[in-house]
Amino acid sequence: MKGIIIYGSRYGSTEKYASELSSRTDIPAVNYKSSPRLTGFDTIVYMGALYAGGIMGLRKTLGALTPDSGRRLIIVTVGLADPQIPENRESILSSLRSQLPPELFQTAQIFHLRGGIDYGRLSLGHRTAMALLNKSINLRPRKSWSAEDQAIQDTYGKKVDFVDFNTLIPIIDVLGSR
Ligand SMILES: Cc1cc2nc3c(=O)[nH]c(=O)nc-3n(C[C@H](O)[C@H](O)[C@H](O)COP(=O)(O)O)c2cc1C
Repeated sequence: MKGIIIYGSRYGSTEKYASELSSRTDIPAVNYKSSPRLTGFDTIVYMGALYAGGIMGLRKTLGALTPDSGRRLIIVTVGLADPQIPENRESILSSLRSQLPPELFQTAQIFHLRGGIDYGRLSLGHRTAMALLNKSINLRPRKSWSAEDQAIQDTYGKKVDFVDFNTLIPIIDVLGSR
């Protein structure tokens, strides 16, 4: 198997998952900014942090990939919202669908992991974006909040880390299954 793990990470939680997956599977991991040409790989794992629904680096890395039935494509998202909640998974999937050519979306195996956030380390732009988002959520009645809104409220201004390497096990199982 010629495989590669590519990751897009701003503050490190996705990178931590990618490094751990790499050491448990012996598949090399690279930042999407230095991703090689992807022709010739039969297994591609893309792991990207969620920023306002977008998956960091995904479009740039996979947008031009042509479908290939002999190749396995695994996409892993890393976000703050709890992926155990179906509403959160649906929301991530619907934005993922808009970021990938349909034929890639249909054939990809998709997983969702939970990252974290440390407001003390956010860039000014990200801190401002979160402050605006927090304000707009607070202006709405609590009963209209989505699970994602609630997660933002619960963690606003804090440092939280939900990285859990055990959640990599289903991905490792899939990678070992061929
Ligand atoms: C500006 C901003 C937007 C974010 N948008 C989302 C989002 O849409 N969905 C989500 O689940 N998490 C969102 N997050 C949380 C990040 O996905 C989370 O912090 C993740 O662990 C970051 O990964 P990284 O450390 O690899 O960069 C956002 C965080 C920031 C700062």
